[in-house]
Amino acid sequence: MSVTVLVGGQWGDEGKGKVIDLLADSVNMVIRSQGGNNAGHTVVTGGKEHRFHLIPSGILYPETLCVIGHGVVVDPKAFLLELDELQSGGIPARNLVISERAHMVMPYHPVLDQLGEEMRGDDRLGTTWRGIGPAYEDKVRRIGFRIGDLQKPAFLEKKLRFVLRLKNESLTRLYNAEPFNEKEILDEYLGYAERIDPYIRDIYPLIQDALNDGKKILLEGAQGVMLDIDLGTYPYVTSSSPTAGGACTGSGIPPSRITRTVGVFKAYTTRVGYGPFPTELTDALGDQLREVGAEYGTTTGRARRVGWFDAAVSRYAVATNGIDAMVLTKVDVLDEFETLKICTGYLSKGEYWDHPMANISHLKHVEPIYEEFPGWMSPTRECRRYEDLPAACRTYIERVGELCGASVNVVSVGPDREHTLVRTPLLD
Ligand code: IMP
Repeated sequence: MSVTVLVGGQWGDEGKGKVIDLLADSVNMVIRSQGGNNAGHTVVTGGKEHRFHLIPSGILYPETLCVIGHGVVVDPKAFLLELDELQSGGIPARNLVISERAHMVMPYHPVLDQLGEEMRGDDRLGTTWRGIGPAYEDKVRRIGFRIGDLQKPAFLEKKLRFVLRLKNESLTRLYNAEPFNEKEILDEYLGYAERIDPYIRDIYPLIQDALNDGKKILLEGAQGVMLDIDLGTYPYVTSSSPTAGGACTGSGIPPSRITRTVGVFKAYTTRVGYGPFPTELTDALGDQLREVGAEYGTTTGRARRVGWFDAAVSRYAVATNGIDAMVLTKVDVLDEFETLKICTGYLSKGEYWDHPMANISHLKHVEPIYEEFPGWMSPTRECRRYEDLPAACRTYIERVGELCGASVNVVSVGPDREHTLVRTPLLD
């Protein structure tokens, strides 16, 4: 039996999809435990690109059971669209189940997401407008709808009558927007119910059996530690817990059964949306990094903010998640930079910080302390073993591990599977 948790160690978009794909065919089960279709995982296999938002990337392997856990918020429309795309691309997706406890994104959630952002004005968060925050708000407020409710039309109707009164009140009175119609929502969601029904399960016995039968399980994280609702740069965060702890609550797997935690980090840093970013590069060097790294969002197409590798952030991710092994992705993007920098900590009001502080207005103004490295100035994409990498590149990678307090076991130098250099295997 082994349970591996995979988390993003920065602000998301670290290249987790690729790592999950690498591991998915050697595990029996892949579970997504938080987030929704705000996430975007790109997997390239055999030169073909697959984009996933809700469905675990393990779906490409028919023998691997893919579970959407109850910590996820599922937009049924987006789910069915993704399913259709997979099926029309020849992937039947029979190996997929959704927890009946997973909450649903309702049609008013994306609208409220967008209106809420507009109302915040200059203080907006830069959300994905997918309704993720409002769906989690309703879950906590105990007025959310769960996937299992699709199988109870009378309950759905009665509850919707009450909930829609609250929603329409905010929409019309607070935002001066159009109200939603109860019957239209019911018809739409009961229409989805027919197609989603075969996938809905009580995942508790499935997961317990897998644990007790000694199966190999992979918990697939979305977003990253710095977007965590508690540990991240609040309020510039997502509304779930993209951490190892969140993986447990979002799946029902107890912490004592976790065998290892793998953290995925980009060889530099990116962030989408607003909020503090101490090592951000807003100059020509930043533009070069964005262009070479093709740093545009999978979900929204937005240009990502880019900057140097921040070991203060990554060390915090390693420590708060118990990361045993690091994967460093997109190392090849740094191939043509003459000088590279790694931030080792911050100075704030004359005080040294080895981790990001909670006070985001202080974090916004910290002075990063940098170590400089000579670039390797040669292509790494054709390297197939870690030892083939230029010495300066290995020095950079090893220093990253040292500063973060975990070893870099896997390095990625390109999008395809063959561009993955394994120093120490992530699974036994
Ligand atoms: P939300 O998750 O749509 O509410 O957005 C909140 C913040 O999280 C915004 O800054 C988003 O850009 C960011 N975010 C959400 N999902 C992802 C992701 O998959 N990758 C990177 N950033 C994300």
